[in-house]
Amino acid sequence: MANSEDRRLSVALVDVAPGREAEFETLSTHFAAILIRKEYGHVEMVRDEAVPLRFYAVRYWADASAAERCHADPEVQALTRRLYQVARVTHVVNGVGRRESGRLLDDRRAHVHGDRRSGFDRRVTNIGRAEGDRRQGDRRIGPRRLRGRAELDLVAAARRARENADAAYSRFKVGAALEAGDGSVITGCNIENATYGLTICAERVAMFKALSEGHRVFTRIAIVADTEAPTPPCGACRQILWEFGGNLEIELANLTESKGKHHLKNLLPLPFDARLL
Ligand code: THU
Repeated sequence: MANSEDRRLSVALVDVAPGREAEFETLSTHFAAILIRKEYGHVEMVRDEAVPLRFYAVRYWADASAAERCHADPEVQALTRRLYQVARVTHVVNGVGRRESGRLLDDRRAHVHGDRRSGFDRRVTNIGRAEGDRRQGDRRIGPRRLRGRAELDLVAAARRARENADAAYSRFKVGAALEAGDGSVITGCNIENATYGLTICAERVAMFKALSEGHRVFTRIAIVADTEAPTPPCGACRQILWEFGGNLEIELANLTESKGKHHLKNLLPLPFDARLL
């Protein structure tokens, strides 16, 4: 093993799909054995006692290059492809430091760091869950909201953000509030422009602000307009939200009431994304 100062740590949050635990255990045992056999490092799979089917995969790499070799290893890649079919993986700590090298999975999105949600909710294959059917009892399954906090009033944040909208041409003010994986809320409003075409929607403002502040994992977005009918995100925003936020929960609301919740995958069927490049 290399000098301990070279050792690196990566942590991924793993949410196993209901009914797939046995397969997951087999895959993770196999993965642990490869890491030791090939001297890449070792892995500890820690179960979250409070959240059913959630694990933390703590990977201790011998050094940064061991992590790279591991990610490039066809045997590991075959295993991670199978893992993708049974679990959703969120990279929360990439201690390897180099671009891409901390990504155990989803290496097709070549230009983005690994600390983002990936896995079964981003796959084309239907593994049999209906929209919203991702809870056990009243618990959500997935790398989602921080527990132990009061649920943030995302709609209220979007209503406040809407007040800053600059909609001099359409007079149609929109506010958005995006929740990041660490629980922070990043807001946006639409900003119009005399050329009209340079207008940017509230949702993209929120997402670009969040990305520019370093957030890479997102859970929900609320969108507010002062209309009776809900205001769903436009096509361009759906694309951007999908690309960076995955299968977000989307709550639509007006100034007084909620107008429904959706999942982005249902608003953007057959998406074009990095998997197709
Ligand atoms: N708009 C948004 O900001 N978000 C949406 O979801 C729909 C539309 C903005 C763009 C433009 O400034 C105005 O609403 C009218 O289209």
